[in-house]
Amino acid sequence: MGKVQVELDKKTILVTGSPGFIGAGLVLRLLKEMTGGTVISFDNMNGYYDPRLKEYRLALIEKAASSSAAKHLFIKGNLADKALVDQIFQTYRPAVAVNLAAQAGVRYSIGHPDAYIESNLIGFYNILEACRHHPVEHLVYASSSSVYGGNKKVPFSVEDKVDNPVSLYAATKKSNELLAHAYSKLYDIPSTGLRFFTVYGPAGRPDMFYYSATQKLIAGETIRIFNYGNCKRDFTYIDDIVEGVIRVMRGAPEKHTGEDGLPLPPYSVYNIGGGTPENLLDYIRTLQEELVRAGILPENYDFEAHRELVGMQPGDVPVTYADSSALERDYGFRPRIGIREGLRKFAQWYKEYYDVGGKILLP
Ligand SMILES: NC(=O)c1ccc[n+]([C@@H]2O[C@H](COP(=O)([O-])OP(=O)(O)OC[C@H]3O[C@@H](n4cnc5c(N)ncnc54)[C@H](O)[C@@H]3O)[C@@H](O)[C@H]2O)c1
Repeated sequence: MGKVQVELDKKTILVTGSPGFIGAGLVLRLLKEMTGGTVISFDNMNGYYDPRLKEYRLALIEKAASSSAAKHLFIKGNLADKALVDQIFQTYRPAVAVNLAAQAGVRYSIGHPDAYIESNLIGFYNILEACRHHPVEHLVYASSSSVYGGNKKVPFSVEDKVDNPVSLYAATKKSNELLAHAYSKLYDIPSTGLRFFTVYGPAGRPDMFYYSATQKLIAGETIRIFNYGNCKRDFTYIDDIVEGVIRVMRGAPEKHTGEDGLPLPPYSVYNIGGGTPENLLDYIRTLQEELVRAGILPENYDFEAHRELVGMQPGDVPVTYADSSALERDYGFRPRIGIREGLRKFAQWYKEYYDVGGKILLP
């Protein structure tokens, strides 16, 4: 599908889910590059993980905003509040909306289904309704590699059939793509969904493996390695995701009229993933090496004694592997940062953030 260039500079850009992990990375980059305009962060700062991390990211954003030519506005609110979402679009008329706010996590969806329906379905519906009544040049939203479920064919391509989600989280993300398609068709809203593959990096999410494993190892606890380590994950470093999202924001699907005189949906979906799936055990070994290198754990740390190989968890999948060739074809970009470099940056950040230099906890 052809693309229409969307200028971001000096515009109003709405990023929901900032100061979440990916949202904060995106807003920081926008504030660095824009020479005017306004970036709006919208988030309910919920306690799914330690909200102090969100406050920390917000502080980084506010610091960046103080030296940016663009303005930054933070609005605290719930995406499921339809009147509020509509009012934000009505008042600020964003040219581009990036919906990253969601209840993330596959495992959490087993015990907390309500959060997924509220944020991911009702919340996303509210964004679509707001785009319907206050048109945007481009709506970009987060989907997930989890939509591929137990897809046997690798690498995962956006052409693959993804009708068999294995978690409620995945089902809500696939639903977002379906809802976006219907709204693009009915109301000619240019929309692009992005299937992110396991995003990691500094100031990441503490519920994700590399982060929680770091915390457990420091506390002398045992890390559980699922599927006996026979998992492959396509890890994607945060800077690569941000670069991909910005490129996509700048190119909206073209509007066309079909033979029936009605709009053809200006709708696209892309994978954004590293494209080199890593064996989980190799990833863990690299993480361990980088934790030692950063001085977070001592060289003689007994990693073997702090790991337990366990079976597969419900909702989990054994492999994720992105075919990002469509992204490369249409936006000239594919992720390039490897796990060594990415985990090194995470470890360096972790040490600084938690000030663990002098407080190494020996098991
Ligand atoms: N990080 C990954 O590996 C990954 C992979 C695939 C997809 N995704 C998707 O990317 C997006 C961003 O993920 P992230 O890793 O930055 O997660 P995150 O949890 O750090 O950020 C999501 C933010 O959304 C906010 N939020 C949740 N529900 C809300 C609501 N109802 N109203 C307002 N704000 C709400 C949270 O407070 C949080 O700050 C999510 O949609 C997630 O599902 C992430």
